[in-house]
Amino acid sequence: MSAARGRFLTVEGIDGAGKSTHVSWLEKTLRARGHEVLLTREPGGTALGESLRKLLLAEPMDADTETLLMFAARQASLVEVIAPALARGAWVISDRFTDATFAYQGAGKGVAEDKLAVLERWVQGDLQPDLTLLFDVDVKVARERLKNAREPDRFEREGGAFFERVRAGYLERAAKDPQRIRIVAAGETPEHVQSQLEIYISNI
Ligand SMILES: Nc1ncnc2c1ncn2[C@@H]1O[C@H](COP(=O)(O)OP(=O)(O)O)[C@@H](O)[C@H]1O
Ligand SMILES: [Mg+2]
Repeated sequence: MSAARGRFLTVEGIDGAGKSTHVSWLEKTLRARGHEVLLTREPGGTALGESLRKLLLAEPMDADTETLLMFAARQASLVEVIAPALARGAWVISDRFTDATFAYQGAGKGVAEDKLAVLERWVQGDLQPDLTLLFDVDVKVARERLKNAREPDRFEREGGAFFERVRAGYLERAAKDPQRIRIVAAGETPEHVQSQLEIYISNI
């Protein structure tokens, strides 16, 4: 990593954990510190990626197809958006990244971890986020939040048992890489969530 390279932050967690809400806060806070900040999301981030997002959030498909489309969108986003931004010194915040595939398609839908690891290596090489903020929250709390917030997409329509597996998958991944993946107690008030984020971003 050259000295000029920016930082790559990812935000993870089950639907309704508060990722998108707090990504905006992170963006504002890091800009106020003088960084160029690029905000992106997965799937999405490029014209192609946003088209794939529409398909992924609406169209029924098997779990392997879903996995491959997720990685296709990720590849495009890395090449077109994330890598160039990091190279010019920007801080990139991505609302979800590869940990989400391990949690949703892996733990949630049973796609084998070794297949995911091959795709991760293919698309990312050695690149990993500098910091991943894992918004961890009780599944019932997250579902209650979503009920009041929006019409559910194809993923958000999954049942509670699915989200329990996804949550457990995220926590297992965090246990394997505790330096990179920091757990945020996301069931707390927004103010308390932000104070946890403050501490984590001050250390990178
Ligand atoms: N800490 C929090 N406490 C209470 N409600 C929250 C909190 N964080 C987010 N919310 C609300 O929960 C809903 C889902 O938040 P969102 O940021 O869209 O979650 P995600 O992007 O993880 O799916 C929104 O209505 C949001 O206002
Ligand atoms: Mg969101």
